[in-house]
Amino acid sequence: MYIGKVTIEPNLILAPMEGVTDLTFRRLIRQIGGCGLTCTEFVPGRGLRDHIPRVLEMVQFDEDEHPLSIQVYGRDPVAMAEGARMARDLGADIVDLNLGCPSRKVCAHSGGSALLREPALAKDIVCAMRTAVDGPFTVKMRAGWDPEHQNAPEIAHMCEEEGVDGVTVHWRTRTERFGGTRRLDVIATVKDRLSIPVIANGDIIDASSALHTLEATNCDGLMIGRGAIRNPWVFREIEAALVGHAPPLVTATDRERVLLGYYREIRTTFRTEKGALGRMKKIARYFTEGVPNGRVLRDAIWHSDTVEEAEARVRLFFATG
Ligand SMILES: Cc1cc2nc3c(=O)[nH]c(=O)nc-3n(C[C@H](O)[C@H](O)[C@H](O)COP(=O)(O)O)c2cc1C
Repeated sequence: MYIGKVTIEPNLILAPMEGVTDLTFRRLIRQIGGCGLTCTEFVPGRGLRDHIPRVLEMVQFDEDEHPLSIQVYGRDPVAMAEGARMARDLGADIVDLNLGCPSRKVCAHSGGSALLREPALAKDIVCAMRTAVDGPFTVKMRAGWDPEHQNAPEIAHMCEEEGVDGVTVHWRTRTERFGGTRRLDVIATVKDRLSIPVIANGDIIDASSALHTLEATNCDGLMIGRGAIRNPWVFREIEAALVGHAPPLVTATDRERVLLGYYREIRTTFRTEKGALGRMKKIARYFTEGVPNGRVLRDAIWHSDTVEEAEARVRLFFATG
């Protein structure tokens, strides 16, 4: 798949996830392989423009982390355009606009999915960013605000007309947050109407959900979020399935090594133990879903008071499991 002139090979993309897809997590995914494009967590366009140190930290990437997409959110077209230009200057291969985030923090300022209810403003932002970004520019959106207002096909069409290079559509609406019943028809409608690449997102967790999504939507690529935390090998699993190969063999030792390696990295990147422990627990919530008897492991990590305790409990779980 190509987004503008950028090759995405394989056509499997790590979803932007706030508080998850930082440099450490993206390194983990890249080491395991099978992912054609990584994305930063969302950052405010205004913060990028103003060179806010915390925001710049959030978009750090390795020299060899290409292709990389930096995602920005906000509602001021001028600030968004300047932030997008900054993302490009920093070295992003692709700049992505967030029209999908349901988080209160973002919607409270009428960014993210709130913009689906303000198509005229969404268009102003898209136009301003398109003019500012000299390379590939994509937009990620939900199906609509609520099940009665699924306007992703119209918004996506507007994006294409304004020169956007690709769109990602998550089948849920804003009000469904992470619930709702899986419906892929909106993504299929978007794909049908557009000539630019369309990427499907939402509940792709393994080879069978990936193949089903591709078949039901005819989309060009797949974006995977929580499935990648739960099973960082999911990209390799899907990549293998796409060419008819068997999935990679992942042992309990592999899972232990990856989790402990990731925890070690976290310890070096967080300034406080509390921060590191919080991130460990957040990742554990999803990661343990991919581990047999993982609930026991999750509870053990959640009841840890220190980083050392969490690591020791991971070792004990795998040693006795
Ligand atoms: C912890 C978390 C943080 C997220 N942060 C972002 C974000 O920064 N930007 C964004 O566009 N979507 C964000 N999302 C939504 C995901 O990118 C994705 O659209 C959603 O989780 C559905 O895909 P999945 O079912 O594969 O997880 C986030 C989701 C989660 C679970």
